[in-house]
Amino acid sequence: MTVKNQYCAVYLSGTGNTKFCVSKLAKLLDENAAVVAIEDEAALSAVKASENIILGYPVQYSNAPKMVRDFILDNKELWKDKKVLCVATMGAFSGDGAGCAARLLKRCGATILGGLHIKMPDSVCDNKLLKKSIDEEIQIICRAEEKIGLSAMRIGSGKYPCDGLGVFAHLAGLFGQRLWFYGNTRRYSDKLKIDKSLCVGCQTCVHVCPMKNLSFEAGAVLPHGRCTMCYRCISLCPKKAITLVGKEVVEQYRAEKYTDKTD
Ligand SMILES: Cc1cc2nc3c(=O)[nH]c(=O)nc-3n(C[C@H](O)[C@H](O)[C@H](O)COP(=O)(O)O)c2cc1C
Ligand code: SF4
Ligand code: SF4
Repeated sequence: MTVKNQYCAVYLSGTGNTKFCVSKLAKLLDENAAVVAIEDEAALSAVKASENIILGYPVQYSNAPKMVRDFILDNKELWKDKKVLCVATMGAFSGDGAGCAARLLKRCGATILGGLHIKMPDSVCDNKLLKKSIDEEIQIICRAEEKIGLSAMRIGSGKYPCDGLGVFAHLAGLFGQRLWFYGNTRRYSDKLKIDKSLCVGCQTCVHVCPMKNLSFEAGAVLPHGRCTMCYRCISLCPKKAITLVGKEVVEQYRAEKYTDKTD
């Protein structure tokens, strides 16, 4: 089913979950939708050119990532008269994941079309407790695809989902996590650790970081305190040399490893 509409989608995706979900949804709603990564130079012009915007991001400690909040607030004038559907992907729970960006967007003059929460595998790969089996991950992705298909159908008939937008969702996000962990997302993180004894200097991490937070100087990778905690470098480092929350990388997660298996 394809519903004709004028959409563009902008997303932050560290390990591919949000890119996967937002791309699927956008193409179901508008086969010509532009789908652009937030770090891409084209992101601002894509938003400018569209009336209806899908804004996707991973939930972090029941909040929107700092990079996404900055993208909204640094471009306040961009959102006036725009209609936005906020899509938040998450490993388990967020309360008001979609609401976090929706409230900021409203302050900037946007109309909120709806909110969509999609459960996907957890992207944190340096915490053993969060890891699931491959079969479990694939099942989660299949259920996510079902939810996306159903949501697109409802949106096509004018009914936008409102996950994470109500007062109860706000309270759940606030008291469930954000209040206790707000310090983790208030600023960009300077907690990224690179194990020099494991690093082979391939510079993959330097090239993939959406925040340009890493540089390679005198044979070593240096973080610069602008980490938006997306886990992309941690997931892609061939030597598992980078950690953020935990001390050791367990199983690196990347959505592409599993989404191919759900087709
Ligand atoms: C630093 C960090 C914090 C996270 N916090 C939460 C959380 O509070 N609740 C949750 O359900 N998932 C949480 N997650 C999991 C991600 O939101 C989830 O895996 C998301 O789909 C990753 O999307 P991506 O692959 O597009 O980056 C967290 C992930 C990271 C890296
Ligand atoms: S990706 Fe890993 S091995 Fe490659 S430079 Fe970065 S830290 Fe070193
Ligand atoms: S340093 Fe790594 S985890 Fe932090 S924003 Fe860059 S790629 Fe993401």
